[in-house]
Amino acid sequence: MAIDQQAQLNPSGMSVQQEPKKLKSIDNLLSSYLRIFREFRRRDLIEFCEQHEAMYREALHHQDHLAVTKHYYGLMADVIETYYGDGWHFCPPEFKGQSREDATARMYDRVSGLLQLNPEKHALDLGCGVGGMLRHVARQSGAKITGITLGENEVQQANQLIGAEGLSEQCHVVQGDSQAMPFESESFEGVFAVYALKYYPDLSRVLSEIHRVLKPGGRLVAYCLCKSRKYDDNQPEQRKLLNDFEYSTAMPPLHTVDGTIKTAADAGLTCVFDEDLSDGPLNWYSYWVSNPLLPWMVSSRFVYGLARSAEAVRILPRGFARFNDTFLAGTLRHIIRGGKTGVLTGSALLTFEKRR
Ligand SMILES: C[S@@+](CC[C@H](N)C(=O)[O-])C[C@H]1O[C@@H](n2cnc3c(N)ncnc32)[C@H](O)[C@@H]1O
Repeated sequence: MAIDQQAQLNPSGMSVQQEPKKLKSIDNLLSSYLRIFREFRRRDLIEFCEQHEAMYREALHHQDHLAVTKHYYGLMADVIETYYGDGWHFCPPEFKGQSREDATARMYDRVSGLLQLNPEKHALDLGCGVGGMLRHVARQSGAKITGITLGENEVQQANQLIGAEGLSEQCHVVQGDSQAMPFESESFEGVFAVYALKYYPDLSRVLSEIHRVLKPGGRLVAYCLCKSRKYDDNQPEQRKLLNDFEYSTAMPPLHTVDGTIKTAADAGLTCVFDEDLSDGPLNWYSYWVSNPLLPWMVSSRFVYGLARSAEAVRILPRGFARFNDTFLAGTLRHIIRGGKTGVLTGSALLTFEKRR
């Protein structure tokens, strides 16, 4: 069945308990980026960069990224919530001129539709961050939703935002490691994992855990940032691009679409739909290149030199140029390059089912 038909299984007439809060406008990515620039002006970032460097090296050595991911989101969760709104997602516009906010909300609805959520059901948002999507899905579907995420700061902020929207009866976020979850077996009718599976070096552990907590016939819907089918590990340039991206976002080596499908099958989760939302005319990174100034700024050695000079005369704090070049500009640069060369996809939508 086509995904569009499937998404309609979640009828729009379903009970909606809250008036949707307007999502923060995230159309103007350039101004968001410039605001982040201003915010970090006042922070000393050398310690963060150095800890990240040491922890990332350890993570690669032990194939365990938990500590470095937690450290990264200790700082970045706040940045994402403050500057990008409910989350940092890459969704291709469905038509020219569609706002980024709207394209993101449609992806949320698509995931909710694939999970066939309704007020009788209980779903898990795995790696929910501060829970922007979780709240959207709860409002639209009426389903009960539990979230699990790694950082205490994320949990605190997520539950605060849930309370502020009057959704505390319906939603709750707990701190934990998704590889060993504090839930009874067969607790949920559905699990969604949006930009979450990329944080597990050993996908089989987390997928087995998801299989355990899903009820028979329950679905996992994963919206993934991963190596595309065009990626070739024998090409050193492609490998370096993705390694740099992984470093700047505290991720283990990215998975491939086919690797994810195979590992899920081994864990008892059959892939029932395999789609990339960028299969249409518009691609997942298009919002980031629509204003040419943004790609220029994040790649420009001139801007980097300017930041270094401003650091030298103490207009900017020590470490700012390095922090920006690695975690802010660097991340955007890798996303744009990965998208343009086609080796990275940010819009793989995979739906799995546990056998009845
Ligand atoms: C890219 S964010 C995505 C957040 C959210 N799903 C969204 O789409 O906005 C990845 C999230 O996964 C969480 N995470 C990473 N490793 C985790 C683990 N082992 N257990 C639980 N959450 C984890 C991080 O704390 C972070 O909030």
